[in-house]
Amino acid sequence: MCGIIGIISTNEVSSRIVNSLKKLEYRGYDSAGIATLVDGNINEVKCEGRVDILEKDILKFNLKGDIGIGHVRWATHGKPSKINAHPHSSEQVSVVHNGIIENSTILKKFLEKKGYVFKSQTDTEVIAHLVTDYLKKNSLKNTIIKVLKKLHGSFALGVIFKDRDDLMVGARRGSPLAVGYGPNENYLGSDSYALKSMTNKISYLEDGEFCIIKKDQIEFFEGNGVKINKKVMNLSKEDIHYDKGDYKYFMEKEIDEQPSTINDCINEYVDRYNNQINIYNFPWKINSFQSIVLIGCGTAYHSCLVAKYWLEQNTNLDVSIDIASEFRYRKVRFKKDCLYVFVSQSGETADTYAALELCKKNKMKTCAVVNVVESSIARDADLVLPIYCGQEIGVASTKAFLGQMLVLYILSIKISFDQKFITKKDYQSKIKNLLSLSNSAKKTLKLDHKLLNIGKVFAHAKGCMFLGRGYSFPIALEGALKLKELAYVHAEGYPAGEMKHGPLALIEEGMPVVVIAPRDDHYKKTMSNMQEVIARGAKVLLITNKNKDEVVSENIWEQIEVDKLNDELIPFLVTIPLQKLAFYSALEKGYDIDKPRNLAKSVTVE
Ligand code: AGP
Ligand code: GLU
Repeated sequence: MCGIIGIISTNEVSSRIVNSLKKLEYRGYDSAGIATLVDGNINEVKCEGRVDILEKDILKFNLKGDIGIGHVRWATHGKPSKINAHPHSSEQVSVVHNGIIENSTILKKFLEKKGYVFKSQTDTEVIAHLVTDYLKKNSLKNTIIKVLKKLHGSFALGVIFKDRDDLMVGARRGSPLAVGYGPNENYLGSDSYALKSMTNKISYLEDGEFCIIKKDQIEFFEGNGVKINKKVMNLSKEDIHYDKGDYKYFMEKEIDEQPSTINDCINEYVDRYNNQINIYNFPWKINSFQSIVLIGCGTAYHSCLVAKYWLEQNTNLDVSIDIASEFRYRKVRFKKDCLYVFVSQSGETADTYAALELCKKNKMKTCAVVNVVESSIARDADLVLPIYCGQEIGVASTKAFLGQMLVLYILSIKISFDQKFITKKDYQSKIKNLLSLSNSAKKTLKLDHKLLNIGKVFAHAKGCMFLGRGYSFPIALEGALKLKELAYVHAEGYPAGEMKHGPLALIEEGMPVVVIAPRDDHYKKTMSNMQEVIARGAKVLLITNKNKDEVVSENIWEQIEVDKLNDELIPFLVTIPLQKLAFYSALEKGYDIDKPRNLAKSVTVE
């Protein structure tokens, strides 16, 4: 699931492999490793933990070689340890792998019977031995064809061969893999970020394809060995220098960037002069779909949930939402008059990608709301709506969540107007309101002085709850997810009205509870639910918006008021204090904010 890099060059590669692994660190990982070829020998250096440790070990071992592969691992099979870190080598080959080999147990038994000895507990090691076995009787190319046929599951692979310092092999099924073109050297990378410091010329492998990479030539093949040509893409250079600036953490920077990312996104979609939304490339007639299904995972799924409320409010579409890992295995009744929207920051999430592929196979209309425009999901969908928020490094998604919501909101207003569901006056007033969002977000960021201390309480809580109704319900889910991810505190997001049907039993003296209650149609009801938890001892942090009337309620522990904006835009503002709350809670505990334990930024396994 994590990161691959491969370089074949006329110069030593280890330091550049390490630099590229550092670029992949944002994806979240638990161990790292590298293998190079020197004088017909495979040299490996591996470690548990961070790439910094690997770097030191590489210097100690004085690792040479003009061809090599590197990996950051996010363990799926076998605990995170030095022995399980990739690359995995046999006497003949060395392999790095992202993904899962589902039939590894059967293959392992088969190989053990033949005398192969396994050193690690990973599923990956079978690939090294399988390649070695096939090489005995087959050419290198036929070996790859046969091995790929044997493997079930998902993978991106990089392979080097002891006796072939003139080439390396890349292969893809499910997990993404890019190939980069350099001057008298070429590269393999699990995403373009890994390669951007070396080249901006890239091709992507599609599912089932493999490639043989030499210093001066790259050949691409379908799984059956038929040669194919690939388009070379020129990547934009704008993200190359994305760094922390004056911040200590990427997440902190990314939260603070939100007013400007909101602006950038609005500038792409809103024609301020004519007060209208421009989605120039919208490929369908508005009457050609009567329903819409929004699909994503994690935070992206939460943005779909918010969008359901907007779309139901502003259009006459039937709206459903789905978690990608559920959707892909359900007996879905595909409908011709339905638009399927896939939301993903990375554009590489395995489940979301598989759901998209399923829709494509059934000839459905597909739209991708992504941050990474070169990603697999973006490349395969009929329509791509980028969120324009720039690279997001923090594993906990923040600015991308606001960006996803923003694009979905913009899409909902466009559909609304095109369907004549709202008048031109209402349409233009919604757009006008949108233009003040960035400024209100800026003001919301300034409310964080209180949250530092509030975060300390949440950080040490046994458990806590996030409650909301309407638009604020998905935001409650998102607030709880952020706290879980970063501060490792058990947190539940719940519809405020559902508490009395069970979860109220969890409330006990001093339990911190976030109540999100903007002054919308649900306000009074949520306030009553708030009283119910206060009466049972909860310590309530109320997040609401400014209003001419003060909040009339006793025993609220802390209160944060965001700007008074049109109700539809409140989800954007009330999210920001929740991001800060999770950030400060993790800070209090001294946790790794940008790389929380057990998590990965780009989830390319099921
Ligand atoms: C967000 O904080 C999470 N780390 C996670 O839920 C994420 O949103 C999810 O994995 C989906 O990722 P994607 O947007 O890249 O598809
Ligand atoms: N399944 C492999 C392992 O556990 C690869 C994990 C990864 O994608 O990092 O080693």
